[in-house]
Amino acid sequence: MLQLPAFDVAFARAQFPALVESWALFENAGGTLVPGQVIGRLNDYMTECQLQPAGAYGPSRDAAERISEAQRLMQEMMGAEADEVMVGPSTTMNVYLLAHALRPLFADGDEIVVTNLDHEANSGAWRRLAASGMIVREWRVEPDSAELEIETLASLLTDRTRLVCFSQCSNIAGGINDVMGITRLVHDAGGLVCVDGVAYAPHRHLDVKAWDVDFYLCSPYKIYGPHLGLLYSKRAHFLSVRAQNHFFIADSDIPLKLNPGGPNHELTAALTGIIDYFELLHRHHFGESHLPLHDRLGQLFALFAEHEERIAEPLVAFLQAHPKVRLIGRGTADQQQRAPTFSFQVAGRNSSEIPAAAAERGIAIGSGDFYAARLIDALGARDRGGVVRASMVHYNTAEEVARLIAVLDEVL
Ligand SMILES: Cc1ncc(COP(=O)(O)O)c(C=O)c1O
Repeated sequence: MLQLPAFDVAFARAQFPALVESWALFENAGGTLVPGQVIGRLNDYMTECQLQPAGAYGPSRDAAERISEAQRLMQEMMGAEADEVMVGPSTTMNVYLLAHALRPLFADGDEIVVTNLDHEANSGAWRRLAASGMIVREWRVEPDSAELEIETLASLLTDRTRLVCFSQCSNIAGGINDVMGITRLVHDAGGLVCVDGVAYAPHRHLDVKAWDVDFYLCSPYKIYGPHLGLLYSKRAHFLSVRAQNHFFIADSDIPLKLNPGGPNHELTAALTGIIDYFELLHRHHFGESHLPLHDRLGQLFALFAEHEERIAEPLVAFLQAHPKVRLIGRGTADQQQRAPTFSFQVAGRNSSEIPAAAAERGIAIGSGDFYAARLIDALGARDRGGVVRASMVHYNTAEEVARLIAVLDEVL
């Protein structure tokens, strides 16, 4: 096991032009800031080659190369193989496209399992397939723990189960689900899995091949990048799903066949800046390395996870000890168990009051249902404004967490 160096958070923060000391950002689960490397890549593309790509003339060839390089880097980041990752507008839109592309492969009466833990992105588009004759079953969280129990899923699987859609990490409760275990169970029952990794990907190393998932989604605007969505599909599935693009785009033309309109060029080119940033951080902490990019990212994310766990510990302790607070999900900062996304309710208060009071004191947190509306209902949290959410990433500091705790102590 590699001995991890200490994480240099000041060095990481220095890469983000929008990070200032006067306020502390704890709404990262909604969207992260971007480092200068992403802004630079976007600016370079728009300055130097914002034209129709893949022509014979210089800047056009250059544009095509930058787009395909960015796509290749995203594929490596996810641990996928060539052409298995589609860059689309958002995770919500990518799931919508995938649902349309998969439906013709299923028969009426075939079954899909969705959860009430998920953000609606990996739920609503699948539920709508009920209108076309599919049977949709709901894998429900335990209302007290906000946990999805694998035994509950086992009882929902039948010989008609074609697909199970769930999230690797809740954007509310922060708990990390056992993707490999769930995937194995579903595969053994003859189904496929579609995993929402949006709330996981900013915090942990992605490894779609090791997990053996069929479909996997994440959103770069929560991974220090531009507002886009990434969809991974195993190659065989990508080839067999129904194309959603123009009739003359070949069925074998993956990932384009699933992406009407194609990728946004300049934002796709800007994705390379995420990897520039990760490479810089990796070199700063580990020196020159000949490991493949995917392995270097594994080392870097191990560093992020250590740092996140360490800075989250005092917040968990505070929230758990506070007599008025109901913490949603696991009462730990353990990196194996959760991402550092903490949601809670405060006795006698509407959740919307807390972010407003915190904002006056230089702290950015959020409240509401964060589009995980079914979870908020299952938790009985709807009528008091949903939950308050404080979410951190690797660029947050222990000092910021101390400020957050002091402000919460004052306003709760
Ligand atoms: C867990 C999770 N899944 C999906 C989404 C939706 O992502 P997008 O905005 O790319 O559609 C979000 C956004 O908040 C999310 O937190």
